[in-house]
Amino acid sequence: MKLAILSRAPGIYSTQRLKTAALDRGHEVKVLDTLRFAIDLSRPQPDLMYRGKLLSEYDAVLPRIGASITFYGLAVVRQFEQMDVYTPNTAAGIANSRDKLRAIQILSRHDIRMPPTMFVRDKADVLPAIEEVGGAPVVIKLLEGTQGIGVILAPDTKVAEAVIETLQSTRQNVLIQRFVKESKGRDIRAFVIGDRVVAAMRRKAVGDEFRSNVHRGGTTEPVELDEDYQRVAVRAAQIMGLRVAGVDMLESDEGPSVMEVNSSPGLEGIETATGLDIAGAIIDYVASQVAFPELDVRERLTVSTGYRVAELHLREGSTLIGQTIEDSGLRERDITVLTLTRGITVIPNPKGTRVLEAEDRLLCFGKMDTMIHLVPERRRRRARPEVQPLPDHPLQETPS
Ligand SMILES: Nc1ncnc2c1ncn2[C@@H]1O[C@H](COP(=O)(O)OP(=O)(O)O)[C@@H](O)[C@H]1O
Ligand SMILES: [Mg+2]
Repeated sequence: MKLAILSRAPGIYSTQRLKTAALDRGHEVKVLDTLRFAIDLSRPQPDLMYRGKLLSEYDAVLPRIGASITFYGLAVVRQFEQMDVYTPNTAAGIANSRDKLRAIQILSRHDIRMPPTMFVRDKADVLPAIEEVGGAPVVIKLLEGTQGIGVILAPDTKVAEAVIETLQSTRQNVLIQRFVKESKGRDIRAFVIGDRVVAAMRRKAVGDEFRSNVHRGGTTEPVELDEDYQRVAVRAAQIMGLRVAGVDMLESDEGPSVMEVNSSPGLEGIETATGLDIAGAIIDYVASQVAFPELDVRERLTVSTGYRVAELHLREGSTLIGQTIEDSGLRERDITVLTLTRGITVIPNPKGTRVLEAEDRLLCFGKMDTMIHLVPERRRRRARPEVQPLPDHPLQETPS
């Protein structure tokens, strides 16, 4: 394949290792400076200029986007996606991971355990929020910190309030999070590639520091992860939309507790700790996926007028419970079941013979008009409109 590694730092360990691994495997590879791209929006087809010249064709791109250039970096990655160039981490996935609040909002929807967290703005809501997550000591985090900068442990409520007030007065948004004491300054970094954890290490903070980041002097050791830690790490990466990710978890009394998912995880720490060829594994994975550039399903499927992707939650009492997908009549109503989620398992392309159970969630693609009748009444009820409703027909009819 012909691979572009997007990096501002061609000389650093991670970039060097990725480049060497690609060359060793006989691929053509270039390290390109993310900030030297110009996004050309003047042509009918999406294009990119690099150092003033039209970019040649690439099969895949491996973005290594530093936090300081997130905005521009995301625009460049998004442009590669529009050009159907494969990337293991999409712009949307990277954006999800960069903002700690956004990441938690997305993950919490999917039963991923995280330290209890609150996001507040008004001064009056700070104290109740601290109580809600379990009281002091409490962790305060800037939304876009990395390398442990912007993560503060407040020993008591007074300090917590003062810190939050100070940060907010400089227009910084902060999260209030339960301090997971039992992790004792340790955390787990699971390196996820595709659908599996390829390596993991435990990081330990030095002295009385509670942040275990390597940049804060944390030490590392390889670790063999239990199956539940592996499953949580892979699921968290998948939910975020990342195929190469460093998932950080605390070892809480209840099990793995996800703190964050990194979209450009460093290679030096994990390769040194485990002795494993992570760079090679990334390159092999990218090469195996080149034929499948990531598509934005929403962008592709919802442009069919009148059709939607919707999730049908089979609550107690639903007439579909106990029926097979075949006999449910969904297909006749022009509704296709894309996936079936049962507990934490996702069954892609479920067979027609599968019997539906209460609490199943069906991800469906179909006619809006038909699907609306499958959503229970309670969820559909809305306040009476006070303005004139729109006419039934779309303003501009498109032929179906
Ligand atoms: N809720 C928490 N309880 C205990 N330790 C934490 C908590 N949140 C973060 N830490 C420690 O602080 C470190 C940095 O936090 P993290 O959210 O990963 O920020 P960063 O993006 O700066 O790495 C973690 O690796 C962990 O050691
Ligand atoms: Mg971290």
